[in-house]
Amino acid sequence: MENQAHSSDQSTKGGWLFFIAGFIGSLILGWVIFPMALYSSQPQPMNFNHALHMNPDKVDGIEGDTETEKCLFCHQLRDDGTFAGIPRLEKCMECHDDPESPLGSTPEEKDFLTRYVAEEKEIPWLSYYRQPDCVYFPHIAHVKMGKVDCRTCHGDHGKLEDLPAYRANRLTGYSIKIWGERISGLKFNTWDRMKMDDCAECHTKKGHEENNACFVCHK
Ligand code: HEC
Ligand code: HEC
Ligand code: HEC
Ligand code: HEC
Ligand code: HEC
Repeated sequence: MENQAHSSDQSTKGGWLFFIAGFIGSLILGWVIFPMALYSSQPQPMNFNHALHMNPDKVDGIEGDTETEKCLFCHQLRDDGTFAGIPRLEKCMECHDDPESPLGSTPEEKDFLTRYVAEEKEIPWLSYYRQPDCVYFPHIAHVKMGKVDCRTCHGDHGKLEDLPAYRANRLTGYSIKIWGERISGLKFNTWDRMKMDDCAECHTKKGHEENNACFVCHK
């Protein structure tokens, strides 16, 4: 009798271990392996160091009284109100004007000068934040009229030293910056995700519900 009780005790224990191993396995599959497989990853054509260029002790000539204005020195709002987005080579060449004379001493800059400046070839940057073509997003309304800082939507991208790989959802083609890093959908910062509901949530919070009609964001 004693023996029998003992063995049934062992098999419940075995059952629990089996359950826990399976549970942990599926957590790993669902939270780590699935998201990794869901996103394709592509490196940028070269590195760009925002922190260095925003540091006035290292780079002189990025003009502007506030941080946002300094960002707008490269990411310009054109006279007609449209946003220039990622700067073109022309902007870089306001400073990096001679491929023979680097401004610093790093191999990264030499590589940039020979591959792009000397050839006058545009850098084929991958855009982390680009929305699908059907979405209308005017930067001027947000930055100038709404007075929303770049950081609210872009986090610390303007402070990065090294660029992460560009990751796109294999099923939808959307960048991970739109659908968010966390598969759980949890959002801790305003910049964690930029889906339709995230746009509308801020419009409501700021008392601009009039911008939550379909035709405002979809033209
Ligand atoms: C206002 C002037 C200015 C502009 C505009 C500018 N740069 Fe620079 N950049 C510099 C200076 C100065 C350095 C060297 C800083 C140092 O090493 O002390 C530098 C360094 C670099 C380096 C080497 C950085 C490293 O991490 O080793 C790269 C690459 C570079 N710039 C790319 C660009 C690109 C691409 C653009 C255009 C989007 C650009 N720069 C626009 C002034 C500028
Ligand atoms: C010297 C020019 C320069 C300045 C100044 C600058 N940027 Fe950039 N920015 C770039 C270049 C080049 C890229 C493309 C490479 C990359 O993704 O970082 C870029 C990319 C970005 C992107 C990614 C856009 C996308 O969809 O991929 C964001 C966000 C951004 N910058 C924000 C900022 C903010 C915020 C500031 C001010 C704190 C700033 N930038 C200042 C040159 C600049
Ligand atoms: C209210 C949110 C918000 C604010 C504030 C904001 N952005 Fe953006 N940004 C976006 C969205 C959304 C996109 C994608 C737009 C699109 O695809 O048409 C984007 C795209 C970009 C891009 C890539 C453009 C391209 O064509 O690839 C850059 C660069 C950028 N933003 C820089 C900035 C800078 C610099 C500031 C501050 C001066 C800023 N943004 C402020 C939401 C914002
Ligand atoms: C952090 C807050 C915030 C986020 C996030 C945000 N918006 Fe807005 N948006 C505003 C504010 C504030 C205004 C009103 C600006 C004004 O007219 O003063 C506005 C206005 C607009 C307008 C009307 C522009 C005009 O010309 O009247 C459009 C279109 C718009 N947003 C699209 C979007 C889209 C698309 C997204 C998401 C990709 C988005 N917004 C995300 C704050 C936000
Ligand atoms: C405040 C801005 C905003 C408003 C208002 C808005 N949308 Fe969107 N919509 C977006 C953004 C940003 C995306 C892309 C990200 C996503 O899929 O959530 C999108 C995506 C979509 C898509 C998917 C398109 C694709 O290519 O995957 C459809 C369909 C759509 N919206 C329909 C609507 C309809 C219908 C309404 C009105 C009930 C509406 N939207 C109102 C911002 C908005």
